[in-house]
Amino acid sequence: MKKVGVAILGLGVVGGGVYSILTEKSEFFKKTQNLDITVESVMEKNVDRALSLGVKRENIASSIEDVISNPNVDIVVEVIGGIEPSRTFVLKSLMSGKTVVTSNKELFAKFWPELEEMAKKMNAGLFFEASCVGGVPIIRTLQDGMQANVIESIKGIINGTTNYILTKMTEEGWSYEDALKEAQRLGYAEFNPTADVEGFDATYKLSILSSLAFNTKVSFENIYREGITGIDKDDIAYGKAMGYTLKLLGIGKNTPNGIDVRVHPTFIRNDNPLASVNDSFNAVHLVGDSVGEIMLYGRGAGALPTGSAIVSDIVFASKHDDYYYTPFKNSTGGNKETKFVSDYKVKYYMRLSVADAAGVLSKITGVFAKLSISLKEVKQISAEEGKAEIIIITHPCYESAAKKTLEKLAALDEVYEIKGSIRIEE
Ligand code: HSE
Repeated sequence: MKKVGVAILGLGVVGGGVYSILTEKSEFFKKTQNLDITVESVMEKNVDRALSLGVKRENIASSIEDVISNPNVDIVVEVIGGIEPSRTFVLKSLMSGKTVVTSNKELFAKFWPELEEMAKKMNAGLFFEASCVGGVPIIRTLQDGMQANVIESIKGIINGTTNYILTKMTEEGWSYEDALKEAQRLGYAEFNPTADVEGFDATYKLSILSSLAFNTKVSFENIYREGITGIDKDDIAYGKAMGYTLKLLGIGKNTPNGIDVRVHPTFIRNDNPLASVNDSFNAVHLVGDSVGEIMLYGRGAGALPTGSAIVSDIVFASKHDDYYYTPFKNSTGGNKETKFVSDYKVKYYMRLSVADAAGVLSKITGVFAKLSISLKEVKQISAEEGKAEIIIITHPCYESAAKKTLEKLAALDEVYEIKGSIRIEE
């Protein structure tokens, strides 16, 4: 039976999950995988935490040098998060010829080329299933289950915190602030929630996933990003009444004009399978030219779900020593030869507070007409004391034209406020 020694850098939530899966299921891995996997070393500043999980004192390393000089360690698991010291630890591990398994999406989105170059040079493995969508095996699906396909699109709910917040705003009518507070209380959102609510976390994941899906480096800087902090619960309710559900979507499309990649709040039809993905759950919908549509659904975070992805990488790495790397030019800042779409076509939902007077509607629709935007639906939802609220749904129009329209509308005396503007994906 093959013996595999693992080191875990960081025994936080995810590191603790990895430790408990590896130790509690040791016999199971012997039986089902023919692998004798042992945790040989852990690096954790909080020694009491390590001891309370059952780590032996002699297995607690005091430096990365301790870990990489340990001949019993074959695989180093990095679950510290953030850029430093993770980047240095991962590079040092690879430099010493150890295979690395990481859950670190920010590190991967920003330093993938550098890490991969080192892994290649040292003939070491570099695995990152847990970096995207937690326990959902999306990376292995893209790398090992879709080879027959040109992937046309990837769309997903790839951030659980924002999905929890939007679900509460949709189902309970909570304000953004109340939903965020509850997400923080439950431990989904951090004290500083920026990475999740402003869409950075989803952008890092989409950068990794769309690179694999479209076989070219998609830098996170190539991705348009908009978070959920400006979302008003009234727009969610009006959209719902019109047959739409609001989600923060990561969208990647491989179009004849180039790659279109964005993260933004999006209305989708209530019967879209992604509309029923609620709370902190994640899901990814793929379209391949051979297989058609597939969708993966599950937990995008948490000790055991993310631990599941890491352990699957450990098992995979233990059974494959002919490591393979990305087949595309994995350069920092993206592949200069790849074309990206900057002006895509999309439908818009807009809610305006306007003067309730003769001729106002024709003035407003005139702005859309001048920019060649055709309207699908115009609805007045309230009128009191000379003020009216209207909702406009457009037919697909260029993003640049929609942006210009919003600017021109805001400049009209008759428009008091643009209360909401949300893209619709059908
Ligand atoms: N904070 C992330 C989320 C989980 O809410 O989905 C880790 O990427």
